[in-house]
Amino acid sequence: MSKNEKKRLLTESRIRNKMTLENFTNEIKKEEKVMPLVTTKKMFEKSMKEHFAIGAFNVNNMEIIQGIVDAAAEENSPVILQASSSAIKYARIGYLKKMVEAALEEHDIPIALHLDHGPDFETCKMCIDHGFSSVMIDGSKYDFEENVALTKKVVDYAHARGVVVEAELGKLAGIEDDVNVEAADAMYTDPDQAKEFVERTGCDSLAIAIGTSHGAYKFKGEAKLRFDILQKVKEKLPNTPIVLHGASTVIPELVEMCNKYGGNIPGAKGVPDEMLHEASKLGVSKINVDTDLRLAMTAEIRKALTEEPSKFDPRGYLTPAREAVKRTVQHKIRDVFGSSNQA
Ligand code: G3H
Ligand code: 13P
Ligand code: ZN
Repeated sequence: MSKNEKKRLLTESRIRNKMTLENFTNEIKKEEKVMPLVTTKKMFEKSMKEHFAIGAFNVNNMEIIQGIVDAAAEENSPVILQASSSAIKYARIGYLKKMVEAALEEHDIPIALHLDHGPDFETCKMCIDHGFSSVMIDGSKYDFEENVALTKKVVDYAHARGVVVEAELGKLAGIEDDVNVEAADAMYTDPDQAKEFVERTGCDSLAIAIGTSHGAYKFKGEAKLRFDILQKVKEKLPNTPIVLHGASTVIPELVEMCNKYGGNIPGAKGVPDEMLHEASKLGVSKINVDTDLRLAMTAEIRKALTEEPSKFDPRGYLTPAREAVKRTVQHKIRDVFGSSNQA
């Protein structure tokens, strides 16, 4: 029987049985075997047991969402789609939610929808109320006590509604060569504080600062991460999923391609794949990637527009851009994070 025929029969039985629209929609979803949005709970449990990491990829539009989920589905991997508050402002929350629902209808893998860097309680509440399955409250800009209080407030609201919460302790700002050792140490996450923070807030996962930073300029010289801090945090919090922000590789070929076709991104540098792989083995459960997807899209768009200046159909340049997002995500899932076949 076709999906449409089933829908017709269900509609008839809905009218006969005076079923509510909500129950009816659930019946259809069950019938069509649509995977519901999931929280990160189960995927993190598995990642901690089997020492792999889940990719959390930032989404802003349809092409990015499709590129990511197509790659994750092909790898049979769980995946986290995350939207920052500026992504929500750009794409609008309803559109993001519906596009993720469309992805769930198409693919049979665990997908979590997460708010990235929630700046305040209200933004977290808005996302929870709109059906996100996970939120981050980023209180890292506040002092310890304020961060605890704000995180706890979000945790209480989220947990009462079945939503999980990521929090952050430590400062992620780029640790440059000219920052003195004492100042740099103050930015890293303190493992003892991390334990106290998780116990007092009840957060479900914790983002820590071990030397990564956002954007395309992470290191002036050689890439360095404080794996010793990660190990100490894991010793204190063996059952808490740890999150690594600012974890793009800033893939050199993509930077080169952007520059070749008119871009100007000199000296960009990220976290090498080997270090991310090491982090996943040492207990990092979630690895955040945005910059690499931006580079992948932009490189392809620049190339297409440069090589075919007479063309102006957006599908002409967005198709290779979406493919590039897919290739980039697939490489990370398969070759770096190790989450293939863990769906
Ligand atoms: O961590 C930040 C993400 O890259 C999101 O950036 O606020 O520009 O969307 P955005
Ligand atoms: P990148 O800028 O390294 O991609 O980091 C993204 C991130 O941490 C999103 O929260
Ligand atoms: Zn981040």
